[in-house]
Amino acid sequence: MLEEALRFAETNKEAALDQLKAFLRIPSISTLPDNKQDVHRAAEFLRDELLRVGMENVQVIETSGHPLVYADFLHAPGRPTILCYGHYDVQPPDPLEEWISPPFEPEVRNGNVYARGAVDDKGQLWMHVKALEALLQTGKPLPVNVRLIAEGEEEVGGEAIAAYLRKHPESLSADVALVSDTDMFAPGLPTLCVGLRGMIYTEIEVRGARTDLHSGIYGGAAPNPFFALAQILARLKDEDGRILIPGLLDGVEAPTEAELAAWKALPFNEETYREHEVGSTELVGEPGFSVLERVWSRPTLEIHGMPGGFIGAGAKTVIPAKAVAKVSMRLVPGMEPQRTFEQLRSYVAQITPRGVTCEVRLIHSGEPVVVGTENPFVQSATEAMREVFGRETVFVRGGGSIPIVGEFQRYLKIPTLLMGFGLPDDNLHAPNEKFHLANFYHGIESIVRFVVLAGK
Ligand code: BES
Ligand code: MN
Ligand code: MN
Repeated sequence: MLEEALRFAETNKEAALDQLKAFLRIPSISTLPDNKQDVHRAAEFLRDELLRVGMENVQVIETSGHPLVYADFLHAPGRPTILCYGHYDVQPPDPLEEWISPPFEPEVRNGNVYARGAVDDKGQLWMHVKALEALLQTGKPLPVNVRLIAEGEEEVGGEAIAAYLRKHPESLSADVALVSDTDMFAPGLPTLCVGLRGMIYTEIEVRGARTDLHSGIYGGAAPNPFFALAQILARLKDEDGRILIPGLLDGVEAPTEAELAAWKALPFNEETYREHEVGSTELVGEPGFSVLERVWSRPTLEIHGMPGGFIGAGAKTVIPAKAVAKVSMRLVPGMEPQRTFEQLRSYVAQITPRGVTCEVRLIHSGEPVVVGTENPFVQSATEAMREVFGRETVFVRGGGSIPIVGEFQRYLKIPTLLMGFGLPDDNLHAPNEKFHLANFYHGIESIVRFVVLAGK
């Protein structure tokens, strides 16, 4: 069966790419209300393909937000069940003028497909679908049971899938979750991600005068909420990048000595990273921690944007009535979203200057996770990737967040395999997002082999 499935995948590469391009043409941007119908269309596109490849119980599940897509194939009694997960929603594509080809007109250039969602996560979700197709079309019984669940709001916090999981955990019951939504540490280096940071996403809103004011008539007497906001933000971190929120680090679990030693052995060059991935004159961050520790095992606080006031072309002399900052924090093991939010809120209250009021709102949150490696599926995954890449798997953490992974651990009590095939320069969430096509095909092959090995 394995040979036959691999042969199918090999001879149908072209078709797999064409279909992926059609999927990528749908602008399924979950955060923008105007794209709600597009998100729905992407769900239907996925449903239709899952039906076509022979999955069963295929359905679009409506939620209070964007829909879920479910499918299963449960014909291997007594064998393990794999829960495949991916998300078909994408981040907004702005700034548009930075894209070499338009974000929703996928284009292949030097071995990569460029589009919003190419690697995060439509392309990687499509690997799962194509691997299942390759296995199913052999007509032989699958050696494992498979469920697939895809969501359309991962990029906005994943509330609907979490609610669904809590309500119907039995409908997603499985022995392991397989998630392809992370990166390889370096090209050609098979990678399993064993930890993700959690997050809280907040808005800090400062209000001064009752309404916008003429800055000449009132300037000098009326409070300016942008100044107050700037003063608040400036006190969230010190000049070295240490977060100043009291109690934040209480209970934070440091990585083990063995994990730190393994990170030191990874092929990582700080200069190359600075120059080619970050592209800044210097790297910043907490003294006393390596770059990998800073991005994998330390909490962070970032400002994403500051809506408010006058930002149009030209000049307008106004003292805005309010100012907002979108601020998120990444959480590491030992931190809890609700507690972190309370700590942020009470610290902000404490440092709010006089003359303004300040409100901190929680938009969404997710828990940090460390996934276990003491399970036979990790063996099957490393063996599968050894056959494909000819190298041993490295174990890394990811600085990003996938909110549902913590919920899989908590509500399904199963380990998750974070087996991703992105590359460090794939431009996730940025202009010119891409997916390296060799990784797309290698990913399909790895998943086919993994499914077969997991059933042995
Ligand atoms: N796929 C990413 C997360 C990721 C990328 C983890 C690379 C590890 C390595 C995911 O789609 C993502 O971007 N998540 C958001 C989550 C949030 C909006 C709740 C994130 O991390 O900002
Ligand atoms: Mn993703
Ligand atoms: Mn993402």
